[in-house]
Amino acid sequence: MSAPDEMTLTDLEPERAQFLAEALAGLRKPRKEFPCKYFYDERGSRLFEEICELPEYYPTRTELGIMRSHGHEMAAVLGPRCRLVEFGSGSSEKTRLLLDQLESPAGYVPVDISREHLLRAAADLARDYPEIEILPVCADFTRPIRVPRTKASADRTAVYFPGSTIGNFTHDAARELLAAVHGEVGPGGILLIGVDLVKEPALLESAYDDAAGVTAAFNKNVLVRLNEELGADFDLDLFAHRAVWVPDPGRIEMHLVSLARQGVRLGDEVLCFEEKETICTEYSHKHTLAGFSSIADDAGFDTLQVWTDPERLFSVQALQAK
Ligand code: AVI
Repeated sequence: MSAPDEMTLTDLEPERAQFLAEALAGLRKPRKEFPCKYFYDERGSRLFEEICELPEYYPTRTELGIMRSHGHEMAAVLGPRCRLVEFGSGSSEKTRLLLDQLESPAGYVPVDISREHLLRAAADLARDYPEIEILPVCADFTRPIRVPRTKASADRTAVYFPGSTIGNFTHDAARELLAAVHGEVGPGGILLIGVDLVKEPALLESAYDDAAGVTAAFNKNVLVRLNEELGADFDLDLFAHRAVWVPDPGRIEMHLVSLARQGVRLGDEVLCFEEKETICTEYSHKHTLAGFSSIADDAGFDTLQVWTDPERLFSVQALQAK
């Protein structure tokens, strides 16, 4: 239906000025932080794909295993003529396992912040699924977006939000995002979501601090972006990657640790770092099934079905908007 060269891109890619404003706002705080959505430029997205292949990083292969084993049951929950919207679609690899099983989908709307990556993945999908209308949207899905309508009418909208990206949101922000999804899918609509589960801290910390140093490069890529895109002068050798499990509220925190007392220029400012001071770059919350069900309930969803792997490392959950 959509040949790669005739696909329409809805381009809402965030502006450079917004990048600078958000970076400065985080780095001016007493406890410095940086929004993790800025990990995903072209290089960051490639590094993330490498992370997903690492032996230590269990979430991707575990979720893929769950999708392979239960994709047909998930497709049955979504039902025929479903308009499928995916938040943070990346390479859309897991989506294929769903698209292969869906009955007459009304269309597929991948939403991602990384334009080149999104277009490449959408073009590949359009080639492999010529009967499905593909409508890529380049946008930050944490902000309100108008999702384009598909040509075919849909019986239901479903949002697919795999990859445990919800873990990158605090519990309050997760409630807000789910409430926004509720508004998008409407009553009866479905949210199919990947949720990583609480487990042994050593396993978690090695998943976020791998031996090959790919996660460290991914974390430091934010400094590369600040230097290249905003003219900052971070010395990459003066920052180290750190990943730590924080039991309450149950999350891995990624930090960049300053190895010296130093000043770094960004925009018109010089940011001062003490030795050992950190920039918190990411939260990755891990949930219990009961804890996540309560967040879903607060946002107006019933938990319809939960699929896990035999070791209960990860879950994929179908939630229905009340
Ligand atoms: C995208 N997100 C779910 C990943 C995670 O596990 O929190 C990002 C990531 N950060 C380090 N490794 C992977």
